Amino acid sequence: MGAMTELPGKALAAELIGKSRVEAGTAPIAAVIAAARDGALGEDAVVRLIGRLWTLERMFYYIYGGWGQGLEMNDFPPSVKYLFSKQIVDESTHEMLYLDALIRRGAVATQKQAFQQPYGRFAVDSALAYYVFSLRNLATYPHPIRVAALNLGPKVIEFAWMEELSAASADSDLRAVFDSQAVENRSHINMGRRIVEEFIGKPVEAELCRWACAVARRDYFRFLHELGDFVLDRSTPPPPLPRVQVTD
Ligand SMILES: [Fe+2]
Repeated sequence: MGAMTELPGKALAAELIGKSRVEAGTAPIAAVIAAARDGALGEDAVVRLIGRLWTLERMFYYIYGGWGQGLEMNDFPPSVKYLFSKQIVDESTHEMLYLDALIRRGAVATQKQAFQQPYGRFAVDSALAYYVFSLRNLATYPHPIRVAALNLGPKVIEFAWMEELSAASADSDLRAVFDSQAVENRSHINMGRRIVEEFIGKPVEAELCRWACAVARRDYFRFLHELGDFVLDRSTPPPPLPRVQVTD
């Protein structure tokens, strides 16, 4: 038996990724991708898209700030802390990438303006905020559980739709915004897989991972629906959200 097959959380990691890949197929961002394919994603729609994604991305400082506190204890090897700090750095790169795109496209002139621009403003009463608070609340759970939730949940879905949107769009500047995140996003998914494989052994922990991942996916879907409506400047009824089972 090789070392790889002995990793306790191997089957669980594959299960979570598989489920997220299936759900990615129904992600409520399809209308935006279709609009891009039809050449119907105008400049205002693109700026709405980048502006809102920038708002979400900059909230990861707040999410990871909470998560980082739980990593100060010595219950995880330095490799886990190193991988997480790399994820924080990558995420701040994405935040700057969106901001640069907003400035390049002339939507804002300075970083300060981006915070005041209506598309980049953070609203507490929004699906975006709900998703951010949902992730931030995972701070109270052990690191492998929240990494399972985010990296094997929303990040798998995000990776899929960004790839699809990039392929659908004729806007090379917009394509570059998404394509340049792909390497890091793929590595976050692989890192999440590795941490779940290595650190999730007990059935009770596996159950918590399934629950946290399902909650994160559900709340990310709610954000994606809000994002799609915002980009296309319309209001549609929210799609039925996947049910979250607490136990089997
Ligand atoms: Fe990111």
